[in-house]
Order: sequence, then C-alpha cells, then structure tokens
Amino acid sequence: MKKVLVIHYSQTGQLSGLLDSIVRPLEEAGIQVDRLALRPVTPYPFPWTRLTFFNAFPESVGRDPIPLQPFEIPPDGPYDLVILGYTIWFLNPSIPFNSFLKHPDAAAYITDRPVLTVIGVRNMWVMAQEYTRRAVASLGGRMVGHITVVDRSNNLVSVITIIRWMFWGKRDPFFIFPAAGIRQEDVDASSRFGRTIAKHVETGTIDRVQPDLLREGAIKIKPSLLMLEKRALFIFPKYRAYILGKVHKDPASRLRRVKVFSVVLTVGVFILGPLTNLTTALVSLVKRRELQEEVERLSKYG
Ligand SMILES: Cc1cc2nc3c(=O)[nH]c(=O)nc-3n(C[C@H](O)[C@H](O)[C@H](O)COP(=O)(O)O)c2cc1C
Repeated sequence: MKKVLVIHYSQTGQLSGLLDSIVRPLEEAGIQVDRLALRPVTPYPFPWTRLTFFNAFPESVGRDPIPLQPFEIPPDGPYDLVILGYTIWFLNPSIPFNSFLKHPDAAAYITDRPVLTVIGVRNMWVMAQEYTRRAVASLGGRMVGHITVVDRSNNLVSVITIIRWMFWGKRDPFFIFPAAGIRQEDVDASSRFGRTIAKHVETGTIDRVQPDLLREGAIKIKPSLLMLEKRALFIFPKYRAYILGKVHKDPASRLRRVKVFSVVLTVGVFILGPLTNLTTALVSLVKRRELQEEVERLSKYG
C-alpha cells in the first residue's frame, strides 16, 4: 500500500480544510494518508489582538524557532511522498512551521523523500517558498512540486477582510466586502490537484508531477505582488532590528516599538501597495521578458 504523510500547521483550520480537499482523492484511491499536525507548546491566541499579532513579527522575520509538542506520528512510514502544508506570517513561513524545518527531528521525515509543498495564504508567498525550498534541500529532501491557493480578492480588499478575521474572528461577508480568506469553491476545486498527485503516487512517477499541477493552475505569480513582496522583505529586517534594538537594556521597549510598527505597516500597505501596482505596470513595459522568466523559474520543481 502506498503511503503519504502530511505535515502541517493551521491556526484557524483554513489550511487543514484545503489539505483535506487535496488529499481526499488520494484516500479514495486507496492511498494511506497520515496527518501530522504541528502544535506549539504555547499556542498562539485566536482571535489575535493588535499587539499579539504584530508581536509575532520579529520572530517571523528572524525565522526564530519555538518549542513544538512531541510529534504524534513517527517518521518511518515508509512514505512515498511527504506533503508540507504551511501558511505565511509576515512574508515568511509561519513560526510553527518554520520551527519544524529547524527541528532536530525534521531530517528524519524529509531525507531522501519526495516532498510537495502546499501553501494556503492571503496572497504573498513567493519568497517564503524559495526559503522553504532551500530548507527542504538542506534536510536532504527532493522537492517535486508545489501548490499555492490564495484569497483571490484584490490586495487591499483582502487586507481589510483578513484584519477583521484575525482581530475579531469574523470571517463572513460584510458591507461590500466578501468573506475573508480562500473561497470555499477554490478549496473544493483543489481536489483536482489531489487526483493528479494520486495518479503519480500510484504509478511511481511523483518526480514528474509538477508540469501536470502547473497545467491545472497550481501556481499563479502576480508580478506586482512579487515586487511588493521583495520591497517589503528588504525593509522588514530593519523593523525587526528597530523593535528588538533596546530590549536588553529596556525590555518594555519591545511592545512600545511593536505598537509604532503596527501603525507604520498598516499605513504602508495602503500607500506602498497601490504605488507598487503603478511601478510594476511601468517596469513590465520595459522588462516584460525578465519578469516572465523570473515567474517561470519560480514555478519549476522536480
Ligand atoms: C501573524 C500573521 C501574519 C500573517 N502574514 C501574512 C503575510 O505576510 N502574507 C499573507 O499573504 N498572509 C499572511 N497571513 C495570513 C496567513 O498566511 C493565513 O492565510 C491565515 O493565518 C489563515 O491560516 P490558517 O490555516 O493557519 O488559519 C498572516 C497571518 C498571521 C496570523
């Protein structure tokens, strides 16, 4: 019997629902799917407060690991495929997921195995995936494919709906805004990826899964969001340094600075976002081919 292991962290259950939709066809095909849910020793609160949310910024950006509860599934399987499911926190893999990548036992789950990554996110994930791709390689894993499913609302609309969801726990549509997060129809439609993965697991051709997944729309990179992401990633370490700068002398300075940063980031998203749309439109007129090549390079696996 073929066996697949899914390792993931999902706080509200959105990513777990997406992964369920993807692996259902595998289970229907008789493949055994084991699920290893990552659990921080100290869980993150939900809904978040403004302070707890932005206080996760320095460790997200610094990719600092936190303690995880012991893993409930042993690594031996043997597994024909490992699926790593994760979300993005401040443009980096979420702290709990990153803590797995840095865990001393991670290699036992990854080494010499084909690995497929799945991201369920608002909309910015590309550089985080580049980091994860390198981390998997350094753990001795073989990246064979990747799927990202996003909230397909416009960037600023999804910022508003996700803030309401994260800070007040309200996900439903309101006023002129749609429900927050990934649409249920997109979650349901993701079972098409599972059918493709099941076929390749069964025939022992999982190393060749990515071209089929790409044809089914597994990765769509928007150049304007990629440019915005790169700009933000350039600035983020500077804000991390600012927030942590005086902590050793004055521990209370951290939260004071987190408060300042929470305002700066919120305002920045609403100003920098539309400006970047404009500059990308101009840049893509001049550098259309370079941008296209970069998007193609970032979509290839296996
Ligand atoms: C602290 C925090 C930071 C986040 N930062 C980002 C981000 O930078 N980009 C993004 O597209 N989504 C971001 N999100 C949204 C998550 O990627 C994810 O879509 C959401 O938390 C729901 O995932 P869940 O399955 O863990 O509940 C963030 C969420 C949290 C809690």
